[in-house]
Amino acid sequence: MLSGGHSIRNIPIAQVRLDRRELLAVESVLRSGHLRQGTVTEDFENRFARAVGTRHAVAVNSGTAALLLAYRAILKAGDEVIVPDFTFAATATMVVAAGATPVFADVDPKTFNLNPKDVERKITRRTRAVVPVHLFGNPADVRGLTVIARRHKLRLIWDAAQAHGARFRGTDVGAFPDVVCYSFYPSKNMTTGEGGMLTTSDAALVGELRLLRSHGEESRYTHVRIGFNFRMTDVAAALGRTQLAKLSSAVRRRRENAAILSRGLRDVRGLFIPKASRGATPAPNLFTVAIDPERLEMSRDDFQNALARYGVATAVHYPLPLHRQPIFTGKGSDADFPVSTRLAATVLSLPVYPDLTRNNLRQVIRAVRAVARAR
Ligand SMILES: Cc1ncc(COP(=O)(O)O)c(C=O)c1O
Repeated sequence: MLSGGHSIRNIPIAQVRLDRRELLAVESVLRSGHLRQGTVTEDFENRFARAVGTRHAVAVNSGTAALLLAYRAILKAGDEVIVPDFTFAATATMVVAAGATPVFADVDPKTFNLNPKDVERKITRRTRAVVPVHLFGNPADVRGLTVIARRHKLRLIWDAAQAHGARFRGTDVGAFPDVVCYSFYPSKNMTTGEGGMLTTSDAALVGELRLLRSHGEESRYTHVRIGFNFRMTDVAAALGRTQLAKLSSAVRRRRENAAILSRGLRDVRGLFIPKASRGATPAPNLFTVAIDPERLEMSRDDFQNALARYGVATAVHYPLPLHRQPIFTGKGSDADFPVSTRLAATVLSLPVYPDLTRNNLRQVIRAVRAVARAR
């Protein structure tokens, strides 16, 4: 029992709830017998492009595939690509898979997103692109990064894997040049099981992405590129179309939940809630805070375990900054990325998914306050 006599329910960190609409949509594709990529995927692409306000969308079978296609279409071997040191590994590993070199830049302590000043410091003659991540659904500094990219003639590849429905100065993050990559993994703001999408208004680029998505096949059995099979199935696309129709209401709920959590937790000492960049409208995918273990007199593990005893599941996104990943040793030290290094040691994600009830949210707030010994 929490003080006040409220019973404890176990609240997961993320939850997917599909209703009859998704089940019927998937069933209808299964019954049609047309399981591979076809007209349902094409329709999903058109709807997704329209929803973000851009010309083209290319569906793929994961967010990782989306990144690899963007990198393969834009980069040459030996190019350097600036990515945040604090992100999911695929943002950087796919740069290597595309034959280019990731260069890490530190993140901003207020937003947890790529720090434009550090990006500018990392630019060399070989730099070809920057990959800002809209981490946890909080848009990166689109304006600052676009100014730098223009000034240095760099391409921008946005990792919006966690940011479906987020906006910057009123424009959906999926509509900014050059290309935007999404994931539809089940924990994201919308899902197709596994899946991904690229959006762009560049007609030449979209042709290249489509070619690379399917074996580099220009006409039947004639291959003009070393391509892949990254096609989405119509089964996944049927799920995606239905999820897309629900996206704006799901994102609204996520925003309301994040606002309730922020209000309930903002005065807790030893807990830092990231700020949105100026002009950004987040689509909160996770409610990730940074704790101050010294002030709380408690390690992050102890904090997590204590919350679990109150029925609140948490997760750490991400426990290692990229420069500390075994695959990236030699790419910098903790002193080169002080913010990212500190965040990796102190962040904790709380649930913010649409189906959380007011009672669930109250339980999360009470639990955090109790564990942090806030009044
Ligand atoms: C920031 C970021 N980039 C890329 C990906 C990769 O997406 P997927 O898991 O669909 O391959 C993810 C998803 O986990 C992500 O969070």
